Amino acid sequence: MSNFNSETVLSVHHWTDRLFSFTTTRDKSFRFKNGQFAMIGLEVDGRPLMRAYSMVSADYDETLEFLSIKVPDGPLTSRLQYIKVDDQILVGRKSVGTLLQDSLLPAKHLYLLGTGTGLAPFMSVIKDPDAYERYEKIILVHGCRDVSELAYADFITNDWPNNEFFGDQIREKLLYYPTVTREAFRNQGRITDLITSGKLFSDLGLPPANLDDDRFMLCGSPQFLTDMREIFENMKCIEGSHTTQGHFVIEKAFVEK
Ligand code: A2P
Repeated sequence: MSNFNSETVLSVHHWTDRLFSFTTTRDKSFRFKNGQFAMIGLEVDGRPLMRAYSMVSADYDETLEFLSIKVPDGPLTSRLQYIKVDDQILVGRKSVGTLLQDSLLPAKHLYLLGTGTGLAPFMSVIKDPDAYERYEKIILVHGCRDVSELAYADFITNDWPNNEFFGDQIREKLLYYPTVTREAFRNQGRITDLITSGKLFSDLGLPPANLDDDRFMLCGSPQFLTDMREIFENMKCIEGSHTTQGHFVIEKAFVEK
């Protein structure tokens, strides 16, 4: 049996000239946990060309959704950006990843910190009923260059809080903090700076970061992850894993730059 399922593209949405998302069919045998990623790709010259992509969709959704940057000379995304409805995409049968609820010690607040397409796994996490059972507040922080790159902002702000099944919990528990670095917006600055200055917490009306109350999931550019790791080390935070629960988890697999 092949390591990949062939899925049909159902829709494609271009957010900007650097960013797009698409949905596909989902093989019934494909299982994942919210926050995980799979290898996806295209057949190029008779061979699978695959990269790690987090699922935007939730584990209970009937279709799959992915968010991608477009890199003009990127081996995969230079091709993937041209996919159309009815095209075939390869999706690896195995899902993996570190952004798992069970890797974090119990606490009050779950911070989901993503830059760019690092938002993707958190779209899955904010759709996870289990996450809302565990936390009093879930805070989704998305950092981008421009406002136009704040993908899914309308869904997070308007659609999801009005969901017929989960709406009450979302309205009570989910906080969304989009921030941009290269144009004027109501929230501005890098996530790292907003955390070290404490502005993120005062803007949200929440206490400064502390080990008793707060847990963090991170996904984004390698330098963002390195800088955040240093912040966490200064706070004496412990990284969680499959075997040991901690204060934060980091997704290291990242799509080509
Ligand atoms: P900046 O505009 O200051 O580079 P990209 O599109 O390049 O992946 O960046 C997405 C967002 O992540 C941008 O707002 C960018 O800010 C920010 N960013 C880049 N590097 C870091 C970092 N080391 N720490 C925090 N934010 C970062």
